[in-house]
Amino acid sequence: MNNQAPVVTVDGPSGVGKGTLCQWLAMRLGWRLLDSGALYRLTALAALRRNLALQDETRVAMVAAELDVQFIPNTEGATQVTLDGVEIGAALRSETTGNAASQVAALPTVRAALLQRQRNFRQAPGLIADGRDMGTVVFPDADLKLFLTASADERADRRYKQLIEKGMDANLAVLIKEIAERDARDAQRTVAPLKPAVDAEILDTTQLDIAEVCAWALALVNQRLRIRVIP
Ligand code: C5P
Repeated sequence: MNNQAPVVTVDGPSGVGKGTLCQWLAMRLGWRLLDSGALYRLTALAALRRNLALQDETRVAMVAAELDVQFIPNTEGATQVTLDGVEIGAALRSETTGNAASQVAALPTVRAALLQRQRNFRQAPGLIADGRDMGTVVFPDADLKLFLTASADERADRRYKQLIEKGMDANLAVLIKEIAERDARDAQRTVAPLKPAVDAEILDTTQLDIAEVCAWALALVNQRLRIRVIP
């Protein structure tokens, strides 16, 4: 019998809307949130700050193992992230950091160094885990596994609108190319490649808005975990 806190995993490629869904689910259920992508992003940032080559597996894995990070949730559902005690601002979410993260994420020793840290997030009353391998590797015994997909063009378009809304520079053609590269790297790596768990519920969100995605996920949570959260 599994007497650990319940966990719902949400996996899928970059820009598919996992982050928004996971934040919403965590708020709705009052559960903790694991943004595993942030751990890979922080590892890449910390390695670059120490002037390490991103392919230097041994040293980057040491950085990952010793990562001094804090996730401090605020009342609006957003999270303040600190690295070595200092708040990381927009750099955490930039495309450059995302690409660097996907390079260090391909290194098996780096993934191993972050495994237990991710599992430690599983605490009562429950956890929403956002990533690429949450349902396949980190929480193979999850109570519910969700996997979101959307076409690469749609994901690039969503990301473009998000950046423009934030007043940042964006180029749609470059975003499409970068998303395709990141997808290929995440899906083709030998350890924990991006793929749905055999027992995952899969949703193609290309034609859906975020409210429809949230409703789909909440209905499954209610059904599978036998809890009643009203949409
Ligand atoms: O989700 P996010 O875009 O923040 O993730 C950044 C990168 O970290 C991804 O492109 C992926 O290569 C890597 N990642 C991973 N496994 C996870 C989460 C993220 O390999 N569980």
